[in-house]
Amino acid sequence: MKPPLPSSALDQLFHAAHTAHGFRSEPVSDEMLHQLHDLLKWGPTSFNCQPARFVFVRSAGAKERLKPALSPGNVAQTMEAPVTVIVATDSRFFEHLPTQFPAYDAKPIYENNAALAQDTGLRNGSLQGAYLILAARALGLDCGPMSGFNAAAVDATFFPDGRFRSNFLVNIGVADPTKYFARGPRLAFSTAAQIL
Ligand SMILES: Cc1cc2nc3c(=O)[nH]c(=O)nc-3n(C[C@H](O)[C@H](O)[C@H](O)COP(=O)(O)O)c2cc1C
Repeated sequence: MKPPLPSSALDQLFHAAHTAHGFRSEPVSDEMLHQLHDLLKWGPTSFNCQPARFVFVRSAGAKERLKPALSPGNVAQTMEAPVTVIVATDSRFFEHLPTQFPAYDAKPIYENNAALAQDTGLRNGSLQGAYLILAARALGLDCGPMSGFNAAAVDATFFPDGRFRSNFLVNIGVADPTKYFARGPRLAFSTAAQIL
């Protein structure tokens, strides 16, 4: 077994990490976004299928295109965030399987089963969204994930050909700690888990 990460790293990733609801003005550079992807891409997905697609909405013009699709409570925090990531799912992720999982011809499994492709895309794309949150925290950034938005409107605006579908949004940047919500409790092990 490898040694655990130092407690400062565990704090940054989990114990002290808080969902951001407001941001300072520090920008997030292209280099940082590439670093973020270079980390999150190593998270595992089934058959290495990597169905998530990430749209980094950073320019004022792109933010304005996103704004009408946001729930009212998410508008201010999203406009303030240096970057908002649209975590989307490629409905035809299986087209990449021949190069991404060369050991086995898995493409027909999904190409011929739309329901399985949809389940697999959403499951693994959501995992990749979670990897993005933890990778961002590892790089010193804060995150504000959001499902409060009109997905059909986001898809019509950003993915008009219908191939990618938005799953959730993540604001990223340096949090304004005065805008944190009170920390919610977490379920006890005895409620959330069992050892059989
Ligand atoms: C998938 C997802 C969707 C969420 N949607 C919203 C949202 O639409 N608006 C919002 O303000 N917070 C949203 N949140 C934030 C959660 O309420 C928050 O992460 C949770 O209460 C834990 O807060 P904490 O990190 O401060 O402990 C969402 C979080 C996740 C993971």
